[in-house]
Amino acid sequence: MTPVGFSERPFDASILGRPVWCLDDVAQAKNAVTDAQRESIGLMFRRGDASEGGILEPLGFRKIETLITLGCALPGQKQRLPTGIGIAQATDADAIADLAARAFRSDRWHSDPEIPDDRADAYKAAWAHNDVLGRAGVTLVTLNAAGEITGFNALLFRDDALVVDLIAVAPDHQGHGNGSRLVTAAIAYGAGRFKTLQVGTQSANTASLRLYQKHGLQEIRRADTWHWTPS
Ligand SMILES: CC(C)(COP(=O)(O)OP(=O)(O)OC[C@H]1O[C@@H](n2cnc3c(N)ncnc32)[C@H](O)[C@@H]1OP(=O)(O)O)[C@@H](O)C(=O)NCCC(=O)NCCS
Repeated sequence: MTPVGFSERPFDASILGRPVWCLDDVAQAKNAVTDAQRESIGLMFRRGDASEGGILEPLGFRKIETLITLGCALPGQKQRLPTGIGIAQATDADAIADLAARAFRSDRWHSDPEIPDDRADAYKAAWAHNDVLGRAGVTLVTLNAAGEITGFNALLFRDDALVVDLIAVAPDHQGHGNGSRLVTAAIAYGAGRFKTLQVGTQSANTASLRLYQKHGLQEIRRADTWHWTPS
């Protein structure tokens, strides 16, 4: 049973092992909590304006993150991909999923102490796997001298915007310019094909914020994310 004002998130639920709802209409928040308790919902989330905290926090929602969307214009002329960058194939999906499970730590599932880390790792792994198998328009990768994948950048095609869906560098390969190469590669891939490059990241994720700012992306908007979990 999903009341008006909410939508179910079956992919999230398949990883968490309990139903997950997205609160689409903040005006329904009070009824939602009552229904969520009755339906044994594992997680309900809301992304919206900071002012919604006044409604959500008294109902038991916890603020998890501030999500910042950044963007930049892309060059009009097509460009070649930089050397050392490859395009992931379906056979790379498992390796990229494993990398994702080890790399992500700042997303909203990892940031919520009520969600077990192994579920948060599995969530990112399954998400990256799906991206490589076709959810993303293209997944760019960095490769080491042995040809192993050290980082990836899964990109969505959204009308005239190229959108970074997931970007990560394996923990043992961070701090060596791979993240920078992946952003440069996304700009090169999008040049002459898309008008803008867009990304979203958490305000607490200093490494990715600085990475994007270094490449000329500027803040467009921010939103807060709240989680409600059963007590
Ligand atoms: C964000 C991430 C992709 C950066 O990859 P990386 O290979 O370590 O980055 P690079 O070595 O290319 O660094 C490029 C720039 O990023 C910024 N940066 C990277 N790591 C940083 C850190 N720990 N603290 C602050 N800035 C950092 C710097 O501006 C750096 O440029 P500089 O070296 O000239 O100062 C990597 O930290 C990562 O995979 N994090 C986990 C997954 C994640 O959070 N992804 C982003 C989700 S939105």
